[in-house]
Amino acid sequence: MNLTIEKTKNPMPKPAPGTALGFGRIFTDHMMIMEYDKGQGWHDARIVPYGPISMSPASTCLHYAQETFEGLKAYRSADGRILLFRPEENFKRLNLSNERICIPHVDVDFCVESLKELVKLDKDWVPEEDGSSLYIRPFVIGNESRLGVKDADNYLYIVLLSPSGAYYPEGLKPVKIYVEEQYVRAVRGGMGFAKTGGNYAASMLAQHTAHEKGYSQVLWLDGVERKYVGEVGAMNMFFVIDGEVVTPELDGSILAGITRKSIIELLRAKGMTVTERKLAIQEIADAADAGKLQEAFGSGTAAVISPVGELKWGDKVMTINNGEIGPIAQYAYDTLTGIQWGRIPGPEGWVEEVCRV
Ligand code: PLP
Ligand code: COI
Repeated sequence: MNLTIEKTKNPMPKPAPGTALGFGRIFTDHMMIMEYDKGQGWHDARIVPYGPISMSPASTCLHYAQETFEGLKAYRSADGRILLFRPEENFKRLNLSNERICIPHVDVDFCVESLKELVKLDKDWVPEEDGSSLYIRPFVIGNESRLGVKDADNYLYIVLLSPSGAYYPEGLKPVKIYVEEQYVRAVRGGMGFAKTGGNYAASMLAQHTAHEKGYSQVLWLDGVERKYVGEVGAMNMFFVIDGEVVTPELDGSILAGITRKSIIELLRAKGMTVTERKLAIQEIADAADAGKLQEAFGSGTAAVISPVGELKWGDKVMTINNGEIGPIAQYAYDTLTGIQWGRIPGPEGWVEEVCRV
């Protein structure tokens, strides 16, 4: 497919070096759009100046949440290269999410190549400050003007770029997590494995309440027995129990994180045992009581590696590693960010160079 490029005539001022970027609040000069119509497939791929889009108020995504999205980042290396981390994985996962809610597949290679063109055009927006990067948000929305409940005949694929800092204001300082017992985010057979807006809407009330209680995020339990740990709002979880690194298995109700998969590979390559299995919250609490809960940390594109210093489950408060980052989380963070920022070589194919600045 052809990709046309319309450059902006009014470039926006870039955040001055040292500006606190926050997460996902600033957008670059350009975005990418592509359209789908039944019978025609994807067409009219174009990079255009960033700005509002016009759509029908009866658009399917607005009423029935037919929407999927991805999140990845572009990094600026110290020697002036702009790098992407495993971008094919994101577009393959986008297609898995799409399948779950009847959105047509996108072409993975075209999405990666057109993303590289977009990032190249806005390369000066990739921030230089330590720990900051260009967050990339591809998403697809059902965009047929019709109120009947049915998958749409028309879709929009859009990619936004946002220079961003740390997702959690705590940065690498351990966060406090609340184990949610009242609400669930996903159930077996539901859409938990898909990156679709509805899952995040389902999480907001619990997250709001946890915030009010002084916790950064909630840890979801399985939707059937409320016994097994799943994931946190925007990251997968790892626990180190008596020397074993354990992460909840991919049971269809949690997202198959690309950071999760990368960390598993990196820790195993270092000779550590990493087990993907069911993990009961009671087992974690017992390990904490026995002094065997050595570490807990989350992994995600936005969150990177986020150590957990405190877990609250009902009346029980578990302080982990004295509220400090542990050695495995630190190793995971140093190795992952080292690869992403091009400081250390990663496994073949993990890092793709877009251009030089
Ligand atoms: N789980 C949820 C619910 C998420 O939103 C994310 C972030 O994308 C993750 C896990 C981590 O996934 P990844 O490592 O691919 O960013
Ligand atoms: C990501 O880590 O890319 C995410 O999508 C998390 C997000 C929901 C902010």
